[in-house]
Amino acid sequence: MHKDCERIMLTEEQLRSRVKEVALVVDEDYKDKSPLVVGILKGSIIFYADFIRFLSMPVELDFMAVSSYGSGAVSSGNLKIKKDLDKDVKGRDVIIVEDIIDSGFTLACLKRMLEERGAASVKIVTLLDKAERREYDIKSDYNCFIIENEFVVGYGLDYNEQYRHLPYIGILKRSVYEK
Ligand code: PRP
Repeated sequence: MHKDCERIMLTEEQLRSRVKEVALVVDEDYKDKSPLVVGILKGSIIFYADFIRFLSMPVELDFMAVSSYGSGAVSSGNLKIKKDLDKDVKGRDVIIVEDIIDSGFTLACLKRMLEERGAASVKIVTLLDKAERREYDIKSDYNCFIIENEFVVGYGLDYNEQYRHLPYIGILKRSVYEK
């Protein structure tokens, strides 16, 4: 385990088996469709890469990088787009893949934006859900783990752009972010 982690919350094995389980449900639900699978950079990268490998229907991959202004009304205007999609979502079934849903602001704004652009459907797949932190009325359609409000890193998640490469989800030591 990395020295900056207090403990491992989710092991590689737990991640592998649950991601597979959820991906196979999505695979079944979309078996007659050809969705656009949108990864939200950067936190989702490892989850995204593992998730898509269980999909058997024709899929197209695309990515967005966004940052939210943090609060306010759920509106596409409250989302800053750092990197937009390459594809037009009009008429497409879109699956958003995110690492974590916290207040829900980012995903609520993002979902609205893609619907406004004319997507036929927009569903959300998340790795982690800090359910107790929710402030906005948004739910992921497929979630792997509901977690406590801990500072988690690894498997794509960062603190100051560090730790994303760790193969497990670890809880960061307080001393790392309180110093
Ligand atoms: C994280 C995460 C979501 C958002 C969740 O992104 O990937 O996009 O925060 O928070 P919310 O539900 O309160 O809106 P972050 O800005 O840390 O970017 P990153 O994915 O590049 O690490």
